[in-house]
Amino acid sequence: MTILSIDTSCDETAVAVTDGNRVLSNIIWSQALLHSKWGGVVPSLAKRAHQERLPWVVSKAVHDSRLTINEIDAIAATIGPGLAIALEVGIAKAKELALKWHKPLIPVNHLEGHILSPLAWSTISNQQLTINNLNFPFAALVVSGGHTELVLVKKIGEYQILVRTIDDALGEALDKAARMLGLGYPGGAVLEKLAKTGNPSTYKLPLPLLGRENQGKFSYSGLKTAFYRLTNEKSLTKQEIYDLAASFQNTSFEHLIRIVKKSVLSLRATLQTGRGNPEITDFLVGGGVASNIELRKRLRNLGKKFGLKIHFPYSKKLCTDNAAMIGLAGQWAFARGELKRTKEEIESIDRIPGLDFSLGLPLSRA
Ligand code: KG4
Ligand code: ZN
Repeated sequence: MTILSIDTSCDETAVAVTDGNRVLSNIIWSQALLHSKWGGVVPSLAKRAHQERLPWVVSKAVHDSRLTINEIDAIAATIGPGLAIALEVGIAKAKELALKWHKPLIPVNHLEGHILSPLAWSTISNQQLTINNLNFPFAALVVSGGHTELVLVKKIGEYQILVRTIDDALGEALDKAARMLGLGYPGGAVLEKLAKTGNPSTYKLPLPLLGRENQGKFSYSGLKTAFYRLTNEKSLTKQEIYDLAASFQNTSFEHLIRIVKKSVLSLRATLQTGRGNPEITDFLVGGGVASNIELRKRLRNLGKKFGLKIHFPYSKKLCTDNAAMIGLAGQWAFARGELKRTKEEIESIDRIPGLDFSLGLPLSRA
């Protein structure tokens, strides 16, 4: 089915057209520059920019898809999690389009989008991942600016959180570290670039939750505080900045990998004691930090060691916030009957800023 999807959950104005898993267009108008001088996303600025830019982004996505609006079967929109006043802009536009063009409207959870993003197909490649290639249950890792979650996917639409962060998300921690080094916002990608020139062992940072890897938690706030102490002492030379970037990235990834490894192994042990002996063999990774080459390398190494097939989205554009992943998740939400058809139903859709696996649609069944 063809879906026009909208995501305005944070600071990207994103619209896409998908046909099943195939991404026909994926337009993102980033607001990063607008927010950078404030060192983080300012909700009121985000709202205004979404309002100004969304009409153009919608027309561009439809134009680039080579479909007409009549050939589109449904509209999908992110209803959460995200910034309330930013989400509202995308939802209002989706309602307007659904009512004007008589299309059903599918409310989508942004996290389900990130989880399923490795299933997106490009228009050119034939070597694509399908759900038929995946062994259920499988594991999915979301590493973004707002979330760091390891999830068990029992089937599409049925999710259980295995591990989540008790404080900062990984992307948030990388952004804060980058800011302490004066690298601007968002800083994850810049930190990655500088870390390549740095020596990760020059500075010793404490590994979070060392010896407590089996507690089912990620944690980044202690690491951030330790990093603050290192960076706050004096003005830094270029080489010191490179080394600090490398140390922070190295320790934050080391923590992630340790916890993921422990959790997958204990999950395997638990599943094997049950009936049917299911084995975790597939591991999907999504979210902005999934575009980091060093993290990809470490996850692939972990995969090789423990017989896990690691799947990433096919492009960086599908890792960071985008609407193509919302269209993808939308098709399965549609199949589960989570669509709104009548005027009353469509108008009743509201944003759920704190939407989670335990609240609202569609992640409530875990
Ligand atoms: O998925 P995303 O666009 O937004 C949320 O849903 O939060 O993720 C944004 C996060 C930011 O923290 C950004 O610094 C981080 O992803 N990020 C990266 C890289 N590219 C984006 N972190 C590390 N390495 C990258 N190359
Ligand atoms: Zn996101």
